[in-house]
Amino acid sequence: MAKKKILKRSWAEPFKIKVVEPIKMTTRADREKAAKEAGYNTFLLKSEDVYIDLLTDSGTNAMSDRQWAGMMIGDEAYAGSRNFYYLWDNVKKFYGMPYFVPAHQGRAAEHMISQILIKQGDYIPGNMYFTTTRLHQELAGATFVDVIIDEAHDPLNEHPFKGNVDIKKLDKLVSEVGAKKIPYVCMAGPVNMAGGQPFSMKNLKEVAQYCKQKKIKLWFDATRACENAYFIKEREKGYANKTVTQILKEMCSYFEGLWVSAKKDLMVNIGGILATKNKKVFEQARNMVVVYEGLHTYGGLAGRDMEAMAVGMEEMVEYDNIKARIGQVEYCGHQLEKYGIPFVKPIGGHAIFLDAKKFLPHIKQDQFPAQTLAAEIYLDSGVRGMERGIVSAGRDPETGKHRYPKLELVRLTFPRRVYTQAHIDVTVESIAEVYDNRKKIKGLKMIYEPKYLRFFQGRFERI
Ligand code: F0G
Repeated sequence: MAKKKILKRSWAEPFKIKVVEPIKMTTRADREKAAKEAGYNTFLLKSEDVYIDLLTDSGTNAMSDRQWAGMMIGDEAYAGSRNFYYLWDNVKKFYGMPYFVPAHQGRAAEHMISQILIKQGDYIPGNMYFTTTRLHQELAGATFVDVIIDEAHDPLNEHPFKGNVDIKKLDKLVSEVGAKKIPYVCMAGPVNMAGGQPFSMKNLKEVAQYCKQKKIKLWFDATRACENAYFIKEREKGYANKTVTQILKEMCSYFEGLWVSAKKDLMVNIGGILATKNKKVFEQARNMVVVYEGLHTYGGLAGRDMEAMAVGMEEMVEYDNIKARIGQVEYCGHQLEKYGIPFVKPIGGHAIFLDAKKFLPHIKQDQFPAQTLAAEIYLDSGVRGMERGIVSAGRDPETGKHRYPKLELVRLTFPRRVYTQAHIDVTVESIAEVYDNRKKIKGLKMIYEPKYLRFFQGRFERI
């Protein structure tokens, strides 16, 4: 047999499947009924009515055999659990922060840190908002100000670090309101709402230097920090030969403290972290956690959850793991490109963000193009994505009017170690089908709107 020249070598996941969970197949009629009952909001669908669930990568990851083994050695003592001390050691080792308070998930840590650092009338600059992060800052009395670079608001701009802070925007805010009104600058990486876009180490260093000069603290939403570290390794000069562990540690070194939703990078189903170098802030958080979460050695978690988190932390920095995870998102993006389907570039770390404004240009933003598109994809195939546009952006607390974000997106988020390449192919083909029929699609009308984080529970009707 003649030897064929191999053009490109493929990669595959660095694990094999040991346990499987069956999923239900549904018909179009089943899905029409389910979508209507859910008010055309994918958050309100029953999971059993979903075929491929790309709603979120939060808490939906597959744990490893080592993590599951860890679940069996939970030390469920009320105080001083062995698992807590193991987790604390790993917080020091991987995030480089000496002080740590556990929390049941990311927003619990956001709540504590916002209440501790923010005073009524303060301003919090950030590299684009995240829904829960901004809400906790606002509930603590602050006004959020977006200081991300302009490129981040343009879905087609291929800037490799669209998560960067625009120092000029930051400086403008500081000169307008004064450094005393800014308790901290909030940086997240990769930036979820921008399309999973990372910041560069160079930008982080510049922001850190600026903050130091102005005596403003710098805090880190490190929820998907390992993915940011991976992008720095792949894209930034001088980092190709560093490990993810080294890059993560260097990133964290520029911050006074950080919080993590452990439901992402750490590949667990529940958990959160608040960690800092500041002993005073730590003492306040350690006291606050007993009011809202539980004793400071479990923070709303079981011992077994903390064990799974500690093991997950050791796995999250493995290069091959992250490469396969981001590689799967890239694969999906490259397949979508073949059909000319519009989505945010460059391809993000945790998700593909379909550009609903381009996909459904005939639907006005106040008829919710992204909400509509997420519903249509579900109706076609049972694939569940999430709206990340005007519904997620909510209302301006002062004027009560809709915020009109430039980005009107549907997020297809990939849980870690859960789906195969065939699941991605099915997803892409479904989106292509919806794209072919896009001109017939009509928008939605909102018929129920809760006060906070309306995207979770809002209900819609077809126009
Ligand atoms: N920060 C970021 C960047 C997040 O993506 C999330 C959650 C949180 C904080 C809050 O953490 O959910 O554990 O309370 N993001 C999920 C998502 C919900 O689907 O992107 P949490």
